[in-house]
Order: sequence, then structure tokens, then C-alpha cells
Amino acid sequence: MKVMVVGGGGREHAIIKKLKESDKISEIYALPGNGGIEADAVCVDVKATDLEGQVKFAVENNIDFAVVAPDDPLVLGLVDLLEEKGIKCFGPNKSAAIIEGSKVFSKNLMKKYNIPTAQYEVFDNAEDALEYIKTAPIPTVIKADGLALGKGVIIADTREKAVEGIKSIMQDKVFGESGNRIVIEEFLEGPEVSVLSFTDGKTVVPMISSMDHKRALDNDQGLNTGGMGTVAPNPYYTEEVAKECMEKIFLPTINAMNNEGRSFSGCLYFGLMITKNGVKVIEYNCRFGDPETQVVLPLLTSDLFEIMLKIADKKLDEADVRFSEKNACCVVMASEGYPKKYETGKELTLPSNKNIFVAGAKKQDGQLLTAGGRVLGVTEIADTLEDAVKKSYETVKMVHFDNAFYRKDIGKKALQCKGE
Ligand code: AMP
Ligand code: GLY
Repeated sequence: MKVMVVGGGGREHAIIKKLKESDKISEIYALPGNGGIEADAVCVDVKATDLEGQVKFAVENNIDFAVVAPDDPLVLGLVDLLEEKGIKCFGPNKSAAIIEGSKVFSKNLMKKYNIPTAQYEVFDNAEDALEYIKTAPIPTVIKADGLALGKGVIIADTREKAVEGIKSIMQDKVFGESGNRIVIEEFLEGPEVSVLSFTDGKTVVPMISSMDHKRALDNDQGLNTGGMGTVAPNPYYTEEVAKECMEKIFLPTINAMNNEGRSFSGCLYFGLMITKNGVKVIEYNCRFGDPETQVVLPLLTSDLFEIMLKIADKKLDEADVRFSEKNACCVVMASEGYPKKYETGKELTLPSNKNIFVAGAKKQDGQLLTAGGRVLGVTEIADTLEDAVKKSYETVKMVHFDNAFYRKDIGKKALQCKGE
């Protein structure tokens, strides 16, 4: 079958490498892909948000199946448009993708269906929000309603910062129209866990758990980023926690979406926090996480494409979904300066036969050059987490580009939890 994967980051590279293992697939196209993905798929220069261009390519090239990986084309409704043309898809339609597209929607959904999450208030004008913040508990968390490249969250540990945050989102519009409405919510504490799950709207099958490292610098210092590294499984996600999540969060969410007439099909990502008062949902994403996918899919021992086909046919209950017992660690290598200003265009050399997922690179005259903040992720697998971490950092040394920057402590917190 001919498959197209929409998107062009490390996550898409990880999806493509896994899909390549399936003998059901004859060709894989990446739209737009990137210079590193070119080694594993035919890259076609169509932006992920160019819905018309995506559909045109799919139709003209007789694509059998489309995997829509990034949030924005999902929220804009690319799956609906492809399905109208008879193309099977992995990913939710527009009405279900709103679970990530609007924080107000997802918070109200959780409240209505008693799914545990932080207490919150919604504001659609700055005056009311500023009035509320005068007496709100501090620290507090301010979130833009819409998509903001994972950066639409401000954690304010003083009232002044909260006021500044509200003004920057609602008045200065630092996240654009995403900030027309905001959610102000209770600050929660506890270890975070990412759980990606497969669902066809009837069955939900959680994948192996993982832990992201969102801050730019070691020991969780510095700015929030798209993610500087991941490990899987996440040792905080015990069997007991998993059971609680299935009963109180995963199944209730799938049922809630069905009840709202917004049945969700694809990968539903649960961003969770294990608090003293139980597990709570921090956020939903309507897609695979990045860089969680770079540790979760390498541990999947079943055929990813078979699972996706079953989901498209609403027969996930028949799918074989299995994960290795091993551990994985992904270290993200970024351009110095990320997530602020950084330089690109540096020559990039990669070792061969390694699990390297390229996020920001382009090919020029046969040479790979860096082309983004997060350049790539290096994933290694081992029997123990300690060895997976060690191996990843050894492979990192085999990657070269000027001004490479990476955290030195990916996996440290997980190792401390395990006592390894
Ligand atoms: P989000 O984009 O919603 O995942 O938020 C980004 C990060 O902000 C999360 O991974 C958490 O570390 C943090 N965060 C979000 N909401 C809260 C909250 N209610 N309490 C504490 N931290 C939060
Ligand atoms: N790693 C978090 C995300 O994909 O949004």
C-alpha cells in the first residue's frame, strides 16, 4: 500500500521508521518531511497546514492510507478532507481534535464527566481575568485556549507574574488568536507521565508510558521547550497508577467524547500528573507526542501499520499491540540558543545504523545542514534504563554539528525514582 505521513519532525521520522518495518507498505511519502527523513521516505514539499495541497497530492498519487501526525492539520480538519476522498486515515477528525485544539473545551469536558484535573476558571476578557487574579491562589497557571506550539502555558509564582502573563496573552497577543480566551488553573505538583494511547473510539490501548524533559537546561531549569529528551517506560507509572488511569481517565475520556458526538480515533495523548490527591490530567493531545514517540515506538514489537489499519476499521480490539520489556532513552540535540534565537545551516554528520530521528535538517548539494532549533533525537534501547541512558550519550558523541546543545541529565529523575 502507498502511505503518506503528514509532518516533518522527529516524531514523524520515528513513525516512518516504524512503518517501514511493515511488509504491507510499498511506498512511504513524507509531506513535507525533512532532509534527514529523506533517507527513509520520499519527501514532498507540501506544508502540513496546506490542506488543499495535502489532499491534492493524496488523490493524484493514489495514496491508500494517510497518517496525520501534527496537531495543526488535525485541528484544521485534514482527516475529514482526506476521508471525503475515500482515503483511510490515522488521526482524529476535526470535531474530535478539538480535545487539543481548545483547552476550554477539554477542561469543560473533564468537569462535565468528572475526569480528575486541576480546578480552573475560563476568561474571555483581560479585565475579568485581572480582577480574578487579585485573590487567586499563587502559584497559578495561565493557559491560552488555542494551539501555541506547546508554549501557551505560563506558570506564575507571584501575583505580578500572573498579571504580566494575562496581559501578554490577552492584550499583547503573544500567542495570537490562541489567547482570545484563557484558562487560569490550580497549580498542581507531582511527577509527570505521558501516556500515548491507541483508540478507535471503542477500545483504548495505552502504549508504554514515558517521561518528557520539557525545560531547556539540566535539573529542569531554563525555558520550556518542545521537549529535550524522553525515557520509557516511566517508573512513576506503576501498575496501580495505570489501573487508576484506565478507570478514572482513559475510559471516561473515550466515553465522554462519544457522548458528545465527537468519537476520537487515532492516538490520544494523556499528559498526567501524579499528585497527592490522585492522578490528574494536565493536558490532552490529539496526536503522538514529540519526543515521546521517539522512545515509545522503538519499543513497540507489533506491526504499527496493522494497528493503524485496525483502528481505521474500528477493530482495535482485534489488534496485536505489544511492547518490549526493555528501556529506551532519547536525547534531543538542539542548536545552541534554542528555544530562543539560534543559528542554522551547520554541517551535520550522523553515524549510520543508529536510531536517529531528525527534526530540523535540510539537504543541500548532498550535504545535511541543520535547519531548526531541535535538530534531532538519539534513541538507544537496553535492558536497563541506566544502560539505555549511557548508550544514548555515547551515540550523541558520534553526531557532529557546530553549536550542538543538549541536556546532560535525561533519565536522571527516572533513575532516582527506580533507585538504579
Ligand atoms: P501543557 O502545555 O498543558 O502540557 O503544559 C506545559 C507544562 O506546564 C506541563 O508539562 C507541566 O509541567 C506544566 N503545567 C501545566 N499545567 C500545570 C498545572 N496545573 N500545575 C502545574 N504545572 C502545570
Ligand atoms: N512532548 C509534548 C508534546 O508532544 O506536546
